[in-house]
Amino acid sequence: MLSSTNQNQKPITTMINDKGNLQIGGCDLVELADKYGTPLYVLDEETIRAICNDYKKAFSAYPKTNIMYASKALCTMALSSILDSEGLGFDTVSGGEIYTVYKAGVDMSKVLFNGNNKSYEELELAIDLGVGRISADNFYELALLNTIAQSKNKHVDILLRITPGIECHTHEYIQTGHLDSKFGFDLSQIDEAVELIQTEYTNLRIHGLHAHIGSQIFETSIYADEIDIICREISRLNKQFGLNLNEINIGGGIGVKYTDEDQPPSVYEIGHIVVNKLNECIKKYSIEPPALFLEPGRSIISTSGVTLYTIGSSKQVPQGKKYVSVDGGMADNPRPSLYDAKYFAQVVNKKEDTEKEKVTICGRYCESGDILIKDVTLPVLEEGDVLCVYNTGAYNYSMAYNYNRVPRPAMVLVRDSKSDIVVSRESYDDLLVHDIIPDRLK
Ligand code: LLP
Repeated sequence: MLSSTNQNQKPITTMINDKGNLQIGGCDLVELADKYGTPLYVLDEETIRAICNDYKKAFSAYPKTNIMYASKALCTMALSSILDSEGLGFDTVSGGEIYTVYKAGVDMSKVLFNGNNKSYEELELAIDLGVGRISADNFYELALLNTIAQSKNKHVDILLRITPGIECHTHEYIQTGHLDSKFGFDLSQIDEAVELIQTEYTNLRIHGLHAHIGSQIFETSIYADEIDIICREISRLNKQFGLNLNEINIGGGIGVKYTDEDQPPSVYEIGHIVVNKLNECIKKYSIEPPALFLEPGRSIISTSGVTLYTIGSSKQVPQGKKYVSVDGGMADNPRPSLYDAKYFAQVVNKKEDTEKEKVTICGRYCESGDILIKDVTLPVLEEGDVLCVYNTGAYNYSMAYNYNRVPRPAMVLVRDSKSDIVVSRESYDDLLVHDIIPDRLK
């Protein structure tokens, strides 16, 4: 089976250059750190385009496939524009994400709106901007959506998000498709939802079913189980309610390689399994070949991103660990503190064969839990060295925050030895933009 870009630990253009420094996209990482400051998110355009190609090739045997990038992994206008140029659609989960892809010039009919508690305003924005599909998550939303659609004298095209009852072996907080979940209709509730759409919510047009079983998934057979359940339900609903459901959305979840131990599946293997299973289910349940939608987030963008940090202070605990501090941490990468996530790092400006020591890389935030990488063996770190943490493209900037009133880092896009800022570094004034001192306090 062909390997795919999400199975790499580093961006595909990563190499050591003539100066002995790490470079990505032809750009020396020491120079990037100098030019733009640190912490700095770096995105490699070639890696992004390579994984898009992997997905397109892997599913080419099923021409009705649509790859809808899950924007929650990383949502910026520049990235939206790259993925749009690759022909991907977008899975969005908020007014903010919808607005970002809209401003990036994306064709809004290729956008899907997901989420378990979309607000009136967000649904209205989605309808006004012509978002292609809304995945209705619950009874409350069906009623709300129909009211908005009626008030605008419009029909809204929806999917029903279902909970297929599949457990995947990933971190508890990132499982979503098992029965006790806040997301979607339980299988036993779908009929009632369809009845309501047919009788009361007549401004809604249902096209298919949507599910998502979890994130950072390494198992492949789980997608076959999911497809079987969705196809079975589609066939049943079509017969029972005289519907013509012809869209299935199997969500995202394909894993990436954060550490040496991680063995994520090849996108080609997933493509093979999904397409075979779908073709089998089309026969088994006598359904017309449906349009297939996937929502990969992490596997599209994680590998292309790295974060550069500058080394500052360090502390040797007597008879204990050595802590080495970087100028970022839990607020630009919340994943280690939230999920105990593991990362791999290299020193940008030092050869791997120099003297090494075991250290714990910690952040600059005022919390003991602000640890980025525990007990890692690296070339001896000194103040001013630049550290490159890999696989930070997904769920880093998108989950970053301003704890301790630290401005969020900049992001640059690299390609062919050129670098461009795609998100500028926040300033202190940016932090104050929404602060107001009421007159009576002045
Ligand atoms: N579709 C739906 C409905 C989702 O809920 C998600 C992710 C995706 C697609 C994309 O999944 P992906 O391909 O990225 O695994 N913050 C966590 C991950 C949360 C994922 C939530 N849903 C983390 O940093 O690991």
